[in-house]
Formats: sequence, structure tokens, C-alpha cells
Amino acid sequence: MARIITRIKAWKKILVYAVLLAAVGQLVWLYRKNQKSSALKRDEKLLLKTLNHSNHNRKSTMRTPPPELPILLWWDSVYTSVDDIRVCGDFRCRVSNDRKLQNHAETKIFIFYASHFKPYVLPLPRKRGHLWSLIHEESPRNAYLLSHVPTLSFFNFTSSYNMKSDYPITTQWLQCTDWLQDNTYVLPLVDKNRLRQFGLAPILYLQSDCDVPSDRDNFVKLLQAYIPVDSYGSCLHNKDMPKRLRFEDSMAPLDDKEFFRFAARYKFTLALENYVCDDYVTEKLWRPLRLGSIPIVFGAPNVLDYLPSNTSAIMVEDFRSVAELAEFIKLLDTNDNLYKEYLAFKEQPIENLHLKEILKNRDWSPEFCDRKSHSASHVLKQSTQGLLTSKYDSIFTGFECFLCNQVHNIAADEYKGVKGREYISNQEQYYCPSPRKFDQNGRYSVHNESWSKEWTFGKFEALAMKQVFEQQRRTQEKEFIRIANQLMEAEETGKADYK
Ligand SMILES: *[C@@H]1O[C@H](CO)[C@@H](O)[C@H](O)[C@H]1NC(C)=O
Ligand SMILES: *[C@@H]1O[C@H](CO)[C@@H](O)[C@H](O)[C@H]1NC(C)=O
Ligand SMILES: *[C@@H]1O[C@H](CO)[C@@H](O)[C@H](O)[C@H]1NC(C)=O
Ligand SMILES: *[C@@H]1O[C@H](CO)[C@@H](O)[C@H](O)[C@H]1NC(C)=O
Repeated sequence: MARIITRIKAWKKILVYAVLLAAVGQLVWLYRKNQKSSALKRDEKLLLKTLNHSNHNRKSTMRTPPPELPILLWWDSVYTSVDDIRVCGDFRCRVSNDRKLQNHAETKIFIFYASHFKPYVLPLPRKRGHLWSLIHEESPRNAYLLSHVPTLSFFNFTSSYNMKSDYPITTQWLQCTDWLQDNTYVLPLVDKNRLRQFGLAPILYLQSDCDVPSDRDNFVKLLQAYIPVDSYGSCLHNKDMPKRLRFEDSMAPLDDKEFFRFAARYKFTLALENYVCDDYVTEKLWRPLRLGSIPIVFGAPNVLDYLPSNTSAIMVEDFRSVAELAEFIKLLDTNDNLYKEYLAFKEQPIENLHLKEILKNRDWSPEFCDRKSHSASHVLKQSTQGLLTSKYDSIFTGFECFLCNQVHNIAADEYKGVKGREYISNQEQYYCPSPRKFDQNGRYSVHNESWSKEWTFGKFEALAMKQVFEQQRRTQEKEFIRIANQLMEAEETGKADYK
């Protein structure tokens, strides 16, 4: 009897929940619908308001409506849909990805997201005063043509992993120095040593993006001849992830606490970037540093600029051969004092002042440090010390605001009749050299035409883009590829006349 009553009660609960859920659903739908139509009509309303203002009496008690905002138009967008006003310090801009605004009088700047960049669908003809900007947080491996002359010179502002770009996002995957020094997941060395005795390999490799310009898998193969590597991803897979850490799409839940504990058991972690470019440093490096697993690093030749201290990672390029590297890893594996030196940065103030400076000066901040700094006492402390800064919540809004400021400044110069400076991006701001391969000894040195075919083709795509740009016309993908192929053949037969 009691059971039946409980059941009826349970059913009642479910019914109440269902009704509530439906009501909430309805509200959300209404809200969305409303938002959509308001987004579509915002432009129109703004225009009407401005007209109203200029046509009507001055006695109106209405506040002066804002002048029309400059439009930042995402041409190749990171958003599926956006039409918003950004408030950037003293300035405001409208941000949209509606290509119909291409020829709108207020459209000042086009933003291209490099992964989605299509050289045959450009906003051409380019009007006088139309600025172009490029953003990419990745290496150029999906957009080789952008890494070749003269592509960057078509752009006015660039934001990339490269510190030379106008709005560098080099440390985008690094939360803050507190995060690096966090000990939440670090396993005591005695426990790591015990796990080693029970057969856990010294080194973790986790990669499902195989066959990349850095040739990293070949390097791991060479290393495995000397020292065991547990490889859980689809590249060189030799071990299965525990069930609880597997996802249907086979991607590991890389931001999951369970995963952190799992990965922190390894004494070393391979941190091999997909491309070898200055300043290209990603979460592949930061994560093991945080977890207290010594990173074995291959990637940015200047990675020392970003490490918390000079002895916090093992650099592949410091060794004459993969055999010597393996010897060194074995030494650390068996010598606790040497091993601990590599984790000393956790307990000391960060030595790398350059890194601290970058983190202090960037104007966006990721979530973790935000959360920390939003604790009431922290905010109070910061505000009394005058340290409270307003930071954007993502690199994309940060870049939008950077551009919004530029657009306003350029417009102000124009208004004053001052000849402002010219902004033209250069290739260095988003450059990676031709990919190479590892030789037998584990030196990254072999140039291989067929390996770098795509990179080389990028060179001719860049020239094709120049041609299309000079004619100020859009093409089709097929035609564009044909032009690039013709240019390549012309060079091969020595008849190149584009120089
Ligand atoms: C324009 O002005 C008229 C009359 O003052 C007013 O009724 C109308 O709502 C205004 N329209 C907008 C878009 O502000
Ligand atoms: C780390 O090494 C670099 C290059 O060898 C050097 O310039 C720098 O001063 C070193 N930093 C520290 C804190 O020792
Ligand atoms: C923007 O870039 C274009 C193409 O390089 C250039 O012609 C133009 O002068 C630049 N605009 C400014 C304001 O620097
Ligand atoms: C160059 O790379 C390709 C593709 O990986 C490979 O098939 C070929 O054997 C390589 N050639 C040389 C000379 O190493």
C-alpha cells in the first residue's frame, strides 16, 4: 500500500515537472523569437530613430539617440549568428555576420576567421576605406595560403598566436600563472614511482590528430624504440582509455577532473605541437605543467620564452639524438632529486618575467582566473589596490573591441583631416616555415617536397589570390584552383611572369 502511494506521489511529481518544463520551453521559444526579430530590425530601428531625430523638434525630451555605430562584419565567422552591440571602453560598435551588410555605409571592417577563409569568396570589390582583419588561434596548417607572400598585405590588422601580430593571442590556452602552479592534481612522487613499479609507462602520449606538419608521430615511433610510451589516442594507439573517460566521438574529455587525475599519474607527457612555428604554444604544454607531469616539448623554437622556468620542461631540440633524449628521461625517471627540480616552479615565484608581463597585459581573461578573482575578498583587495581591470571574456570579443577602437580612431583622424598612419599586415604576423620530417636520429631536418606539397601549393594560392584581388572580382572554387595550378605549372616550366 505504502509503495503504491509513493508511486502515485512520484507520478504526480513527474506530471508537475512536465508541465513546468513545457511552460519554460514555451517562454524560451517566445524569447528567442522576439530576439531574432529584434536583431533583424535593429538596423532599421536605428536608422528610423536617427531620421526621427533629425526631422523632429528640438524640444523633444527624448535623449539624443546615438549616431549610427560602425559595423564590424564577420565575413568568415566564428559565430553561427551574431548581431550585437559591443561596448568597448569609450567606444561602441555593432558586430554582425550578416553578409548583406557588405555595402552598408557604416560597414568599416571585415573580420576573417582563418580556418573558414575562402579566397574565392571575398567581399569584392573592396571599397575605399574598407578595412580587413584576420584572426586565427591555430597554426596555419589549415590555411597555408595565409602564410605566404603577399596574402597578409591585403589585411590591415592581424590577430594570431604570433607575438608580432597586432593583437597577439599567444597565451590564449593559459589561464593564469596561478593555474600553472596549481597543485590540485599533482600526485606525490612516491605514488608515481609506485605506479611505475606496477607497470605504468613513464610517458603519456595522447593524440588523435595524426599526420601533421610537425611529423610528431614519427618522432614518437623513434622514441618508443628506447623507452615505453602509453599512447591512448588514435595516433600510435597502444592502450585503451578507461571506459569512464571514453566518449562516443572518441575524443577524450580533456577538461575533465577524472582525466586530469588519470593524466597526472604519468611522470612525463609528450607535448608535441602540430606545427613548428615561433610563439605557437598550446594547451599541450600548459596542461602537463599544471598536472605536474614533465612535458617533453617539441614545437615553438622559442618555447623558453613561455615556460615558467628554464627547468620546467624537457626540450626535444636540446638533444643530439632521440637516443640521448631517452637516456635523459630515464635518468630523471630514476633520480627523484633531479625529477623534483622540474617541478620546483610550482613552489617558487614564476621566474619568467616575460610570461608574467604578457599575462598581465592581455585584455581578455579565461574563466579559471576569473572565478578566482571574483571571490569577494579578492575583488575587494584588487579594487583597494586599484588593480581591478575590465577584461573581455574571450579572445574574439577582445579582438572585436581592439578593432572597434581602431575604427573609431581612424574615423576621428579622417574627421579632423589628419592623415593617419597606414596599417598593413605583414607575413611575419602569421608565418610558419615549410614543414619538415624527422631523420633516423630524431632530428627534425629533412625537407620532403611531397610531404610539404600542400604548403607549396599555398604559395600559388597566394599568387592566385593576388590576381583575383587585382581584378576585384569573385571567382568560383574550381576556377580559383585552376588559376593556382596554372601559376604552379608556369613556375615549373620556368615561364613565370608574375614576378
Ligand atoms: C518617430 O517619431 C514619432 C513621432 O514623434 C514616434 O511616434 C515614433 O515612435 C518614432 N519612431 C522611432 C523608431 O523612434
Ligand atoms: C633561461 O634561459 C634563457 C636562454 O638560455 C636565458 O636567457 C634566461 O636568462 C634564463 N632564465 C633564467 C631565469 O635563468
Ligand atoms: C588597409 O589595407 C589596404 C590593403 O593593403 C591598404 O590599401 C589601405 O591603405 C589600408 N588602410 C589603412 C587605413 O591603413
Ligand atoms: C617523402 O614523403 C612521402 C610522404 O610521406 C614519402 O612517401 C616519401 O617516401 C618521402 N620521400 C623521401 C625522399 O623521404
